[in-house]
Amino acid sequence: MEEQQIRTIGEIRKMTKDEKFKVLGVVLKSSIRKDKNGKNYWDIGIMDSEGTIEGKVWSNAQWWDRRDGQTLVAEPAEAEFFRDLTGKTVGLAGQVTEFKGQLQYNFNAVSLVNQQKFPPHQFVQRSPITEETLERAFLELLEACEGPVGDFLDFVFFKKNLWESFKTCPAAVSHHHAYVGGLLEHTVAVARTAKNIVEAGTAGGYEADLPVAIAGALLHDLGKMESYRLVPAPVMTVAGTFHDHIVLGYSRFEALAREFGLDERLFLAIGHIIVSHHGCREYGSPVLPATPEAMAVSAADEMDFRLFCWKHSVDQMEDGREISDFNPSAQRRFWKWEQSNGV
Ligand SMILES: [Fe+2]
Ligand SMILES: [Fe+2]
Repeated sequence: MEEQQIRTIGEIRKMTKDEKFKVLGVVLKSSIRKDKNGKNYWDIGIMDSEGTIEGKVWSNAQWWDRRDGQTLVAEPAEAEFFRDLTGKTVGLAGQVTEFKGQLQYNFNAVSLVNQQKFPPHQFVQRSPITEETLERAFLELLEACEGPVGDFLDFVFFKKNLWESFKTCPAAVSHHHAYVGGLLEHTVAVARTAKNIVEAGTAGGYEADLPVAIAGALLHDLGKMESYRLVPAPVMTVAGTFHDHIVLGYSRFEALAREFGLDERLFLAIGHIIVSHHGCREYGSPVLPATPEAMAVSAADEMDFRLFCWKHSVDQMEDGREISDFNPSAQRRFWKWEQSNGV
């Protein structure tokens, strides 16, 4: 990793076609595939503290073992340490390419570096909002829930000691908030928005139970705690892949509600918010939101996801550009609208 300056992923994302770079990061995924000539190539995704990028390592790339010296590895697919690089720090040399109008990345050299000198946890992306700020916001929302709902939330997050792992959990492995603290950041945003929706609805004559809506929002993605693991980058668990966070979250909620002795009507109302929060069956919810509280949480969840995708897209755009690359998660291009550009 000599001569050329090491770039951050934030800097690489602003590069244009043909630019070259070197980068250090922790591997999120690495899978071996076969090209049309039957030769091995890799799909690799890496993360540093600024974000993630994915790219391809074609069969003519160089692989280096730089853990203790500098050894060129002829057959990386045969080398034990290269077979699964997930969670390890690597150095990549690459180039920005373009395919069908979209920028892509090719990595032409992969170096497995000394893991003590470059510990993987140093390269893990965290929520841009500090843990203290998010914790304060979460506690304010919890305090807005008086009575048995507030007691139940206190029981779940603090008496059952879920808080320590909840606050570091990611909200995804890609798509949105896929970093340490992402679940807490997303949960606070959803609960705030749902609270505002319920308050606006109530002012307009649509009565709703505010503590139930807030509790549903704070618990809606509880199942993500079992769906992801930090290695130290976020990866999907077997349960997360094949049971999904809605089922995992509901079953944990049910067990906790029984243990606490939550009132049956509250149990049904909050449980309904958890299972319906994706808003439609195609997105994994077995039932559609059928109460004002569930409609508020589902709308708030969708809103936070879209806003995240918008921010992620426009933050990567060079100055003066108005139309983003196509965002596959949100299925649209975003517009970096600025009043001064208006005509
Ligand atoms: Fe969800
Ligand atoms: Fe969510």
